[in-house]
Amino acid sequence: MSSSSATPQPGSFVLAQPLNGDCAIPGDKSISHRSLMLGSLAIGETVVSGMLEGEDVIGTANAMRALGAEIERDEKGLWHVWGRGVGGLIEPDQVLDMGNAGTGVRLIMGICAGYPMTVFFTGDGSLRKRPMGRVAKPLENMGAQFICRDGYRLPMGMVGAKKPMPQTYELPVPSAQVKSAVLFAGLMAPGTTTVLETEHSRDHSERMLRFFGADVRAEQYNKHLHVQLQGQPNLKAANIVVPGDPSSAAFPVVAATICPGSDVLVIGVGLNPLRTGLFDTLIEMGADLTFINQREEGGEPVADVRVRSAELTGVEVPPERAPSMIDEYPILSVAAAVAQGKTTMRGLAELRVKESDRLAAMARGLEACGVDVEEGEEHLVVNGGEGSVVGDATVETELDHRLAMSFLILGLVSKKPVTIDDVAPIKTSFPNFLDLMSKLGAKLR
Ligand code: S3P
Repeated sequence: MSSSSATPQPGSFVLAQPLNGDCAIPGDKSISHRSLMLGSLAIGETVVSGMLEGEDVIGTANAMRALGAEIERDEKGLWHVWGRGVGGLIEPDQVLDMGNAGTGVRLIMGICAGYPMTVFFTGDGSLRKRPMGRVAKPLENMGAQFICRDGYRLPMGMVGAKKPMPQTYELPVPSAQVKSAVLFAGLMAPGTTTVLETEHSRDHSERMLRFFGADVRAEQYNKHLHVQLQGQPNLKAANIVVPGDPSSAAFPVVAATICPGSDVLVIGVGLNPLRTGLFDTLIEMGADLTFINQREEGGEPVADVRVRSAELTGVEVPPERAPSMIDEYPILSVAAAVAQGKTTMRGLAELRVKESDRLAAMARGLEACGVDVEEGEEHLVVNGGEGSVVGDATVETELDHRLAMSFLILGLVSKKPVTIDDVAPIKTSFPNFLDLMSKLGAKLR
């Protein structure tokens, strides 16, 4: 069930003392989704450890079961996926309800697009507003057909291609979801499917496809990265270790940075270089982050991050950094509200089509808490400084987990409480967020 149907549970944080201690971050959402999807397309048993057990990923597990894969969680928390091989999925006899998950629905559309079967997709109130044309159009190029609401919105029905054709597709927006959907559809097509990207987006699909034995190459020619997949591979089951999600780590990292006297160790954070834009930005602002015990797990770089509180100064965040921190702008704006001076974030058009219009929602919420912000079509300026967050507001989080967590953390440094209208959406990506923050010293009221 998606969080949209539950009664809203308002909440605000109270800071009892500086944040202190160790915390382990839940598994990476992007990698968890992909492990279930590609495990379902591989031959044999894939065992996944460190899986994120949030609502979005559980939705993907249910969808892949409906498509014919066998998926079980054992008592030790390991997930076992018995795949059906590329070409082996079956037509689901139910609507695939993907809840709040953009990654879930878009990547599964890609997977199904090369099968001659009919699949129906829907989602919660947030997902039904989000644009699906960005994946439907390239999937139509390869032979799939869609019936959908105005503006390619869910609910949607898809009739997959009888004879899927490989294609070369230039991404109109920097999006790993679109890139992955096209590549996953290309698994069913003969020959080479190529995706061209100008701004590099996260490459978890490419890494995991290779890990399962597919031939995937990425080469830079002039201004484009050409990502090429050879179709109709035999994917072989492989064991996956999911690293901690840097997008979830972002919350305790910023919280410890802005709460004076804090010292927190965040354990097992994935540091894929296409995901570390927030950490780079925080360091430029003066944050005290140390990356220790650097290692590789499941083909991804990982480290523990020690965070001590620090005084921050506003910076200019360049637009080309956006793909590497696209989900982190809400929590960066919280850091910016406390930082001395002006922080300018540019190149934010994609924030308008996330779980909410995050650009508008952040500006509105910060303003309600007394912060001086300026919202542009594609940029956000936050004028911060000590004592600039008044609080005394209830912020609407619009079924958006990252807004919910960001505003709870803003309440740790506000003069009066910041209340959010509903904590329930947090379960989509960070089910133990409130517990983890409480162990570090922040209590939910
Ligand atoms: C994701 C890609 C990003 C990100 C989302 C997860 C993925 O979306 O915002 O939370 O797993 O591929 P876009 O690719 O649409 O930017």
